[in-house]
Amino acid sequence: MKILVIGGGGREHALVWKLAQSPRVSTLYCAPGNAGISRLATCVPIPADDLAGLKKFAQENNIGLTVVGPEAPLALGIADEFRQAKLRIFGPTRNAAKIESSKAFAKDLMVRQHIPTAPAHTFESLGPALKYLESRPAPMVVKADGLAQGKGVVVAATHDDAKEAVVDMLERQTFGLAGKRVVIEECLQGEEITLMAFADGKTVVPMVAAQDHKRVGDADTGPNTGGMGAFAPSPIVTAGLRDRIVREILYPAIEGLSRVGSPFYGVLYAGLMVKDGEPFVLEFNARFGDPETQVVLPLLKTDLVNVLEAVIEHRLDQLQIEWTEQAAVCVALTSGGYPGAYRKGLPITGCNDDRFSEDVMMFHAGTAWKDNNLVTAGGRVLGATGLGPDLSTARSRAYEAAKAITFDGVHFRQDIAGRVGGPVS
Ligand code: AMP
Ligand code: GLY
Repeated sequence: MKILVIGGGGREHALVWKLAQSPRVSTLYCAPGNAGISRLATCVPIPADDLAGLKKFAQENNIGLTVVGPEAPLALGIADEFRQAKLRIFGPTRNAAKIESSKAFAKDLMVRQHIPTAPAHTFESLGPALKYLESRPAPMVVKADGLAQGKGVVVAATHDDAKEAVVDMLERQTFGLAGKRVVIEECLQGEEITLMAFADGKTVVPMVAAQDHKRVGDADTGPNTGGMGAFAPSPIVTAGLRDRIVREILYPAIEGLSRVGSPFYGVLYAGLMVKDGEPFVLEFNARFGDPETQVVLPLLKTDLVNVLEAVIEHRLDQLQIEWTEQAAVCVALTSGGYPGAYRKGLPITGCNDDRFSEDVMMFHAGTAWKDNNLVTAGGRVLGATGLGPDLSTARSRAYEAAKAITFDGVHFRQDIAGRVGGPVS
């Protein structure tokens, strides 16, 4: 079968890497891909949000299955377009993807379905929003309703910070249409975890739980990023807690979507705060997480093509999905200055795949080839991922690989999986 993966980051490299192991795959394409992906798949220079271009490519090249990585094409309705054209695609429809693309929609759904989450209110005009936040204790969280590349959430320590965020979104329109509505919610404390699950409209099968590190600096300091590293499994998520999240959060979410005529087919990602053993939803995403996918897919034993097909054919209940007992840690190597401004086109050394053992995957995110040399091409450049029998071993392997890489201004956090994995040796 010919498979097309849409996107070009570390998540997509992990997807392509996993799909390349399937005996059922004859040819792999990735649009637009990156330098690392080009070693495993034919990269086609079509942007992830060019729906017409992607559809034409899939039709002309007889693609048997398209797998969508990022949220933007889902929010634009790529799954609807492909299905109408009788093309098989893994990913939810535009309406089902609203669980990610509108925080107000997601909040309403959670309230209707009695899903535990922070109490919140939605506002479209400045006056009532400011009045409301004055009435609430700080800290509080201000969220732009729409997609804002992970930057639309402000955890405000004071009323002034919260006010600034609301004015930014509703008046200054810093996030454009995404900030036309804001959600103001209570600030939750606890441990953040990610549970992703395959969902076929009626059955939900959870993956291994992971933890992400969102802040740019060690000890969770500095601004939020797309993710500076991740590890799996999360020791916080016991089998009992995972089952509760599936029963009390994931099933009610997909049932709520089916009830409004938008059954969810794809990966449902729950970002959760766990406080005293109780899970609360911070956000839902309608896709694989990044970097979580870089630590979760290496633990999947079952052929990924079989899983994706079971989802789109609505027969997940008939498939046994198996996971290894191993652990994985991913350390993101980023460009100096990220998540602010950074330079591109800097030569990367030490990144020859042959140098790494079979327990290390060097997933590429922002990389490109320039005159046959590997150069930086984004904020998150590489994801050094180590596998091992436990988190501590996986962590040592990830850091050993991360330290072998050099490019001007390279930055990575020293404490990924730190609390559970011990100090970096
Ligand atoms: P989101 O995109 O909604 O996941 O928000 C981005 C990040 O903001 C999350 O990963 C959390 O670290 C933080 N966050 C979001 N909502 C809350 C909340 N209600 N309480 C505390 N932190 C939050
Ligand atoms: N790791 C967060 C996300 O994928 O949205």
